[in-house]
Amino acid sequence: MTDVLTALGPRWEGQVGGTLEAARGLAVSRRCADVAELLSVAEAGLGRCAVVSHDLRGLDLAVVARLRASRVSVLGVHPPGDEAAERRLRALSITVVLPVDSPPELFADAVASASRVSPTEDVEQAGASGAIVVPDDLSEITAGSWLRTADGGSSVDAPDAPGLGSDGPRPVVGRLLAVWGPTGAPGRTTVAVTLAAEVAARGGAVVLVDADTYGGCVGQALGLLDEAPGLAAACRAADHGALDLAELARLAPEVTSGLRVLTGIPKAERWTEIRAASLERVLALARRLADVVVADVGFCLENDEELSYDTVAPRRNEATLTTLAATDLLLAVAAADPVGLQRLVRGLQELGSVPSPVPVPVVNRVRASAVGPRPEARISESLLRFAGLEHVHFLPDDREAADAAVLLGRSVVEQAPESALRLAVGRLVDATLPGLAGPTRPRSRWRRPRAGHGVTG
Ligand SMILES: Nc1ncnc2c1ncn2[C@@H]1O[C@H](COP(=O)(O)OP(=O)(O)OP(=O)(O)O)[C@@H](O)[C@H]1O
Ligand SMILES: [Mg+2]
Repeated sequence: MTDVLTALGPRWEGQVGGTLEAARGLAVSRRCADVAELLSVAEAGLGRCAVVSHDLRGLDLAVVARLRASRVSVLGVHPPGDEAAERRLRALSITVVLPVDSPPELFADAVASASRVSPTEDVEQAGASGAIVVPDDLSEITAGSWLRTADGGSSVDAPDAPGLGSDGPRPVVGRLLAVWGPTGAPGRTTVAVTLAAEVAARGGAVVLVDADTYGGCVGQALGLLDEAPGLAAACRAADHGALDLAELARLAPEVTSGLRVLTGIPKAERWTEIRAASLERVLALARRLADVVVADVGFCLENDEELSYDTVAPRRNEATLTTLAATDLLLAVAAADPVGLQRLVRGLQELGSVPSPVPVPVVNRVRASAVGPRPEARISESLLRFAGLEHVHFLPDDREAADAAVLLGRSVVEQAPESALRLAVGRLVDATLPGLAGPTRPRSRWRRPRAGHGVTG
């Protein structure tokens, strides 16, 4: 017998409650009046499955995540034929949904299916099940140019190319690459922005996400307006079940062809706006918009949940930890000086204790003045000795290129295409994201919200 909790809009309460009572193998253990009651009985362990309706007041992505965290699966019900209601449920990552007038045996089957869906599968399926609507006019901006770039074709270069029309193949799911690094400004943002711009210059569709909730500055680095809605707005929309590809594309404007940017929170104190469940949803959707999603994340890996045993309160490093757990590729950026290298060695140990893929070490700002002659050989030797690292990537200290880019609010790829830094990032792309065409000249910037810099005069 499966204990079921219900929390339904008043119009469906009687009908659905009655059907559930009649279903074999199900027992309604509590009919909840609202979300608050549902969460408290779920957290008290009084049910295994929550049946919720699309119009339940206060139902959002965070509520669904809390139910799942309490090991309660979620089944959504909607009026028959009401596609908008069904879509809203799916956008809240509820993938098992039923019309309210379904017979008892269908409810019994659906409760069983809901309990077999893991929380992460739910997020993925919300994309794969066709629940996310891709309007035809967005077809050219969805992912899929990745493999075509090898022979020079790109849906962005040629907007009228056949690409992914409405009757074409479903978009492929892009890869997520997170750029992390220990404290001390080793160059995470510079690497993330340059790498994203490099992939776009090669014809890949990229979404660059500023998920650094301590000092996000990707928007500023690319000359975007401070008040760009960005990641916080995308998370808010995701939380309310209102984020689809079209909305994400609107919130992540294209700054150069192929490069979309989801700017970070403008003030560190707004970190509570980036919650795990909604960020997961944003990242999952961004993968459907791009060949590569590049995320700049904060340095700190501490998990306050372990300190407070409170699984519901927002965690300060939720954005970083969520991104690291979701990412396919992880770069660990270090400053090429003795302090930066020691921080990298410690940071890699810390990384080993949080769910994340094996990091690719990238030592940035390599120069002889900080470590002595033959800096790359010296750094390689010490990282092999102290951290057992064999494959380290190096990026040169290229102040001229980095400064010129920051000054003008452009990527190094645009601003200094022949620079040593851009060429080294190109080699990093070759090594970590094989399958892209070789470097091309950066394409012209064709849509650019006004620069927010005051220093350019
Ligand atoms: N390879 C490089 N050569 C020269 N300067 C660089 C290089 N990489 C980064 N910088 C400069 O170092 C400074 C810090 O870089 P960046 O903002 O990318 O670091 P960060 O790790 O993102 O820092 P934060 O902790 O503030 O997020 C910036 O002034 C940037 O222009
Ligand atoms: Mg940064």
